[in-house]
Amino acid sequence: MARIALNHGAILVASFLVTSVAAAASSLLFQGFSWESWNKQGGLYKSLIDSIDELAAAGVTHVWLPPPSQSAAPQGYMPGRLYDLNASMYGNEDKLKLLIKSFNNKGIKAVADIVINHRTAEKQDGRGIWCIFEGGTADDRLDWGPSFICKDDTEYSDGNGNLDTGGPFPPAPDIDHLNPRVQKELSEWMNWLKTDIGFDGWRLDYVRGYSPSITKVYMTNTSPSFAVGEYWNAVATGQDGKPEYNQDQHRNEILNWVQESGGGSLTAFDFTTKFILQAAVEGELWRLIDPNGKPPGLIGIAPESAITFVDNHDTGSTQKISPFPSDKVMQGYAYILTHPGIPSMFYDHFFDWGLKDELTKLSGVRGRNGITATSRVRILAYEAELYVASVDERIIVKIGPKMDLGNLIPMNFQLATSGEKYAVWEKKP
Ligand SMILES: *[C@@H]1O[C@H](CO)[C@@H](O)[C@H](O)[C@H]1NC(C)=O
Repeated sequence: MARIALNHGAILVASFLVTSVAAAASSLLFQGFSWESWNKQGGLYKSLIDSIDELAAAGVTHVWLPPPSQSAAPQGYMPGRLYDLNASMYGNEDKLKLLIKSFNNKGIKAVADIVINHRTAEKQDGRGIWCIFEGGTADDRLDWGPSFICKDDTEYSDGNGNLDTGGPFPPAPDIDHLNPRVQKELSEWMNWLKTDIGFDGWRLDYVRGYSPSITKVYMTNTSPSFAVGEYWNAVATGQDGKPEYNQDQHRNEILNWVQESGGGSLTAFDFTTKFILQAAVEGELWRLIDPNGKPPGLIGIAPESAITFVDNHDTGSTQKISPFPSDKVMQGYAYILTHPGIPSMFYDHFFDWGLKDELTKLSGVRGRNGITATSRVRILAYEAELYVASVDERIIVKIGPKMDLGNLIPMNFQLATSGEKYAVWEKKP
């Protein structure tokens, strides 16, 4: 670097400018599908092509698309022929490439959902076990047999693979990621998704299914500009079934995963913030501060590594495994779209719940005030019915039903946007 600086100072200055502009722009992830999107009339890819202008106007910089490969289940999470992108319920390979190109033309990057913990087989072996895999190419890439399955996966294995390095996935064979051919061929496939299909980054499904050192291998071999892991751990709850106030262990577990997986551009979904926030909006907004005076989620300790969200295709949508209180979703968005971390917006909320305009306004406030993943939070109120915080001393956000804010909003701030039980002010110009 230093030598280049001496010889090509002008070039280096130019590239520094580009880098700082990119860092200043606030990243915003959009989850471009729900649990029902495979059913979308005309195909999801086609419908998203028609929505790109709305997403660009909402400040979206990255869009997370569903697993693109042939799959035994329509949503894509039981993938088999990984190179076959023509058998997807969302549309075929040509449509996907066109969609990504159209996103790219608006400055939006596409993030592929990488489901590699497990894989469904194409054929049964002589014993009637589904363990013969096919890659979906004319050659033998990803054409695997039972020895590529973890030997402790007793339903599908012949006992030759290594032990699983993570948690099990009972509905499909767990792949042996310690096998060098698995690492090589999955890395090649991911690089093909980049070079031939146009993806820029990864959303890594069920990363607890294999060890962080395995994630690190794929990150190193594919160097995505954006990556987020689904490290979904349960929060400790009290006898009343609600999350305990202190969730340090929960967020540190996620952060440890990020660090052990190599860090860098890798981030993780901030499940800690989600679980605390959805309890907090039920009249317990005092939850939104940790003992150090900071936000209690992953954003309070490693905001640059946190992707915040309100709901996704699992927690919300039609599965509703752990849904955000539906009447308070906008309070959740008022929080994540004003706070540090990289916020994300969910398909259903944006397109189906009629929240597009409110979300776009909040995102606009974030953008024009330069709020980023590492913006600083100063918490001004944290009562049962009121939470107020100043972010970068540029905006002030309030959530909760309490109307009397005392003198928390200085005279040099004006209302920027508001909705039911939330408001955001920005500094007057
Ligand atoms: C999918 O379709 C594209 C475009 O028609 C083609 O190039 C590709 O080979 C097909 N892939 C498979 C696995 O059939």
